[in-house]
This record gives sequence, structure tokens and C-alpha cells, in this order.
Amino acid sequence: MLSGGRGTRLRPLTHTIAKQLIPVANKPILYYVMRHIRDVGIRDVAVVVSPETGQQVRDALSKLSPDVPLTYIVQDQPKGLAHAVLISREFLGNDPFVMYLGDNLIGGGIQAFVEAFRAGDSDALILLKEVPDARMFGVAAVDSNGRVVRLIEKPTEPPSHLALVGIYVFGPAIHQAIAAITPSRRGELEITDAIQRLLDTGRSVRSFTLDGWWLDAGKKDDLLEANRVVLDEWTVRQIDGEVDAESVVTGRVIVETGAQIRRSRVRGPSSIGAGALIEDTFIGPYTSVGQGCTVSNSALEHCVLLDAVRVEGVGRMEDSVIGRNAVVRRLSRDHQSLRLMIGDDAEVLL
Ligand code: TTP
Repeated sequence: MLSGGRGTRLRPLTHTIAKQLIPVANKPILYYVMRHIRDVGIRDVAVVVSPETGQQVRDALSKLSPDVPLTYIVQDQPKGLAHAVLISREFLGNDPFVMYLGDNLIGGGIQAFVEAFRAGDSDALILLKEVPDARMFGVAAVDSNGRVVRLIEKPTEPPSHLALVGIYVFGPAIHQAIAAITPSRRGELEITDAIQRLLDTGRSVRSFTLDGWWLDAGKKDDLLEANRVVLDEWTVRQIDGEVDAESVVTGRVIVETGAQIRRSRVRGPSSIGAGALIEDTFIGPYTSVGQGCTVSNSALEHCVLLDAVRVEGVGRMEDSVIGRNAVVRRLSRDHQSLRLMIGDDAEVLL
């Protein structure tokens, strides 16, 4: 599982938190990744981490998956996905393996995909998803038998609508392919180049097209969309916190232990994290409120609040992502000026 990288597109959140730990429906993305890996019976898992966020990832995974022993491999710099495989060579040996990018989320898990690899005799199986505009993705040209003919990174004229999802299965031949490639123009050892190398040396690369959804939580809007889809698909009503007599909680809502809802309405699907306090507020569908947040006199819809956020009297807030410990507070109704303390790389739309 790959959990390194810089996460530049999700700044400022990723100034302090690894991209793969950003919560979707109040659970770090890695939680879903680990669940998919375990569901196919894989028990030998290595996690490639960066020196900057490695410790955070370790701490989170030791809580999320205490029963799966994990090997951590530190990648000194994000030198590419193929580089991550290169430094994992000893761990991998000559066994076939799944490579799962830790910021990718798919519905339905990887069972069918891994079985397709086990049933065939290919050297690589790549997961593809049909997208309307493939220009910002790695794209595969595939023949009528699902055999991959060519891979192109971010093409201006895509040969198909099939984008490469960040989940792959490889046999040991990938190691020779990686040994034969050189860094790309952006200075990374590209996994697409290694797979192209497999193709060029007559190896078999097959594809599997995903029917369900795929979310790459790379940017703010993707993150909101991931939150929406995951809340919609996987939320089961569970109220462990306290809801007072003046509040109404409707539909598939999770209220974690120690959370308190007072004089408020919460409409599902939504999730209120442990220890959060919601007062005189409307929490609309598709909203995740992190642990220890305080929200009062506000209306939130389609929002993601990371942990310990304070929101007071803001009126209506939509389509927003608020980082940990941030405060959004209205001082007075008639005051026209703004008073802001905004972190690096933040975006404020008024
Ligand atoms: P990317 O999204 O391609 O790269 P990034 O994490 O650096 O993000 P950004 O473009 O916003 O700066 O990475 C995909 C996944 O692979 C992600 O989970 C990080 C991981 N990764 C590594 O572990 N090592 C690497 O060398 C690279 C490039 C990515």
C-alpha cells in the first residue's frame, strides 16, 4: 500500500496531515483501503510512507488494524510509484502482489479484480474505470479481449475513456521492467513506463474495468464527492451519543460516543464524530463533523469538518472543507469587515 507522496493538491490540509489520513465519512481513507486488502485475505502488507508523515500513518494504522502485522518502508522522497516498488523489492520477493495507492477509494472492494489475476496467467493486471474525460489520467488502449496494448500518461488526445485506477496486481516480471526504466521528465520512476516496458517485451498485461464508483481524493471537490458517496453508500444509522428531546435526527445518521446534539436537526446521511457538540444547528445531508468539533447557531450542508473545528453563528455553510482546529465564527450580524487568520494555501470563497 502506498502512503507516501506530497499531497500538494490537498494543501493546506496536507501541511499537517498525510493525504491518506484525511477523513471521508469520518474515517481516514486508509481505513477503507485496509478493509479492501483484508477482505481478499491478504495478510502480508507493507506500507510505503514518507519521512514526513510516516509516523502519523503508523499511529493511525496501528489503531485501525491492530490485528494485521504491517511492515513499514520509508521512501526518502516521492520518486514515483515504480520507485516505491523498487524499494519494496526485498519485502515482495518473487511473489505476486497488489499495489494499492492509499488515496484511492472504490466501491465494492477488490475481490473480483484479484480473482481475475489469480485465474489468469498475466504479468500484470490493471484496474480501469471509464471516465468522461481521460485527459488528466493515465489512459489505457485496450484490444477487444481486454488485453492492454498501450499506456499513455495524461494524453492530450486519449485513445479511450479508460483511466488507470490506482490499484494494480503484478507478478515478479514487473521488477525487471522497473530495473529497465529511467526517470520521466517530472523526475519520477513511473509505473506506467514499467507496465509499458512489460508490453514492449512481450509480457501479458490484462485489464479489468471497474463498474462501481472510483474516487481519487486528490482535491477539495473530490474529497467532498468522496464524502458524499461514502456517506450515501455505507452509512447505517447508529446513535451512540446523546440527542436531547428538542432535537430531531432523521435518517441514516451516525452519532458517535460522547457526541451531544442539542436543540438541533441532523439529517442523514451524515456523521457526527465522538465528543462533538452540536447546538441550535441544522446539519444537512452529506456532512461529516469530526471528533471534538463544536458547531452552534449554524446550518451546514455537504461539508467536511476535520477534528476539533469550531463553527459559530455562520448562517449557512455549504460545500466546505475545514481543517483541524480551525475556527469559523461570526462576530456580529451587522459588521461588514472580515477578520481572518488563514493558513498557507487556503482558499476562502465569499
Ligand atoms: P499522487 O497523487 O500521484 O502524488 P502525491 O501524493 O504526491 O499528490 P499531489 O499530486 O497532490 O502532490 O500519489 C498517489 C499515491 O501514491 C498517494 O497515495 C501517494 C503515493 N505515492 C507514494 O507513496 N510514493 C510516491 O513516490 C508517489 C509519487 C506517490
